[in-house]
Amino acid sequence: MSRERKTVNAQITGVGMWVPEKVLDNKYFESIVDTSDEWIRTRTGIQERRILEKGATSDLATNAIKNLMENTGLKPDEIEAIIVATVTPDYFFPATACLVQDNIGAKNAFGYDLSAACSGFIFALQQGASLIESGRYKKVVVVGADKMSAITDYTDRNTCILFGDAAGAVLLEPTENLEYGLQDSVLRVDGSGRDLLIMKAGGSAMPASKETVENKLHYIYQDGRAVFKVAVKGMADVSAEIMERNNLTGGDIAYLVPHQANLRIIDATAKRMGITRDKVMINIQKYGNTTAATIPLCLTEYYNAGKLKKGDKLVLSSFGGGFTFGSIYLVWSMD
Ligand code: ACO
Repeated sequence: MSRERKTVNAQITGVGMWVPEKVLDNKYFESIVDTSDEWIRTRTGIQERRILEKGATSDLATNAIKNLMENTGLKPDEIEAIIVATVTPDYFFPATACLVQDNIGAKNAFGYDLSAACSGFIFALQQGASLIESGRYKKVVVVGADKMSAITDYTDRNTCILFGDAAGAVLLEPTENLEYGLQDSVLRVDGSGRDLLIMKAGGSAMPASKETVENKLHYIYQDGRAVFKVAVKGMADVSAEIMERNNLTGGDIAYLVPHQANLRIIDATAKRMGITRDKVMINIQKYGNTTAATIPLCLTEYYNAGKLKKGDKLVLSSFGGGFTFGSIYLVWSMD
């Protein structure tokens, strides 16, 4: 739908999150692989991450939506659509969205899963906004949820220190005041990077077998150095593009809300946008990279802490496996 013809915008009218209790700090990783707290903190910014000991991604998502419902008073039967962004679905099918729908009793909702790795929430938020902008849907829940511990090899120091489990959710509703809500998005995929960040086995390309399990092909593989280079450029490029398109300068932006994969990637993006650290949402130190959950976790924590106010201009940006990358420009409308 062209921006000119829109009669409503999608606005975020509620936020919620959930993280498991179990904490793995950097010291723990010193005891299981050849690493150090100092290396992890200086190379990534991570100090600890949460791990789900019992349950699956649908449980993370369900708890985040329950928190959203507590925060907003939203009733399950009012929800019309549930989009679950995840790369760690409970099953190939049924979709995690179906399990979540049943768990919360959203008897009038349809839903589906969206797979875009660390850009999952940004892609799903734009999808949810399009449902609202179409005029056909009035209450859409978008949740980013990942149980990364399910696909992490805890003998591989290159990846195991990076990831954690969490979920964050937002409620989207229409607003006729077009100054608020989602204003614009720049979304991209580049499949030429597919081999650099991938879970190789378990899909139709390489179905599960004794060999795939023995060769540890059901875990995340990442060429960290190569991904780092493209992530720095990709996330900064889309962030700069959305600013240009909307005539925004660093001074206009209340917060950059970046995917939390690496503090150095976040800093590089902020620098390119001309904004200082105090205007960047950061919680990577507490949760690590929770893939589709990082951005809604940031939004929820900053909103709950009273750090977001009505009229704040936000740029949400991400880069992830696929490759997938994107930025959303939105104006916050909650008091
Ligand atoms: N502890 C100690 N040393 C380590 C560790 C560790 N945990 N991990 C790697 N090293 C070593 C490497 O073996 C290497 O040693 P060598 O020089 O002897 O070969 C050295 O440290 C440097 O390794 P690099 O990979 O170059 O380290 P780098 O500074 O690039 O940091 C990291 C690695 C943190 C993974 C970084 O590359 C990164 O953040 N990459 C991008 C991640 C990203 O954005 N992913 C996309 C989103 S994730 C998703 O979509 C699911």
